Amino acid sequence: CRFSDLASAKAYVEKTGAPIVIKADGLAAGKGVTVAMTLSEAQAALDACFDGSFGAAGAEVVVEEFMTGEEASFFCLCDGTTALPFGTAQDHKRVGDGDTGPNTGGMGAYSPAPVMTPELVERTMREIIEPTMRGMAELGAPFSGVLFAGLMITDKGPRLIEYNTRFGDPECQVLMMRLKDDLLVLLNAATDGQLAHTSVRWRDEAALTVVMAARGYPGTPEKGSVIRGVEDAAGDGVQIFHAGTAINGGALVANGGRVLNVTATGSTVGEAQKRAYAALDRIGWPDGFCRRDIGWQAVAREQGN
Ligand code: GLY
Repeated sequence: CRFSDLASAKAYVEKTGAPIVIKADGLAAGKGVTVAMTLSEAQAALDACFDGSFGAAGAEVVVEEFMTGEEASFFCLCDGTTALPFGTAQDHKRVGDGDTGPNTGGMGAYSPAPVMTPELVERTMREIIEPTMRGMAELGAPFSGVLFAGLMITDKGPRLIEYNTRFGDPECQVLMMRLKDDLLVLLNAATDGQLAHTSVRWRDEAALTVVMAARGYPGTPEKGSVIRGVEDAAGDGVQIFHAGTAINGGALVANGGRVLNVTATGSTVGEAQKRAYAALDRIGWPDGFCRRDIGWQAVAREQGN
């Protein structure tokens, strides 16, 4: 349900009870969603939305059912008619190890998402993506571009949490490490309505990325601290993507919240994880931090736990 005033939203939440999900209905850098386990948390989240904490994004609020399951990010390239599956990933939204602490834009990710079996991909296409494509066309607004479905894999099957019309960050980094084909050719095919005649090839490897963030993130990150050793950390299946860096007086410095993405490939998620953390530990940045458990669910699955 969508609300544009605090009193109606609070009345609805009190009637429905917790746990419940409160979302600022707009872009809020990944911080506009509260999974409220109690009524008082839900009320505080509503207060934050309507007191302007999320700017214009909080002028309307969406209150949603609490769902349990594993989250997955599912991407498609779309040309108005055809949606071409374009990879799966899972990210870690909470700032702390063990998926604790406040939500962020994503502290790390891996691809493919083991939870997205071929059957679940087929079901997601049939139950979620293809009806969306048909619906958009029927509304006179056929969709072309990148469709990013944030899914919850519940015991009843895949459920859509949200759509974005962009790649995920940091999901894009792991997809790009695995993509064999030229991205520009694929994007041109989407633009030219040619996706029905296009296929995508992926490396038969997993990729994992760990975000290094500036102290203070996701609140107010400290800027300006010097980062050393980035050039030495890259190479041999490891790439460092810059997100919030700048050059100051010839030195690489932090200039944002999420600053670097240390990304590696491997024959398993576990191997990619080891290589990413080995590279990350070669970077000298005492004022940065990261999670130490990116990929834990996938690694546990690989180990049969
Ligand atoms: N990592 C989540 C997003 O890009 O929205």
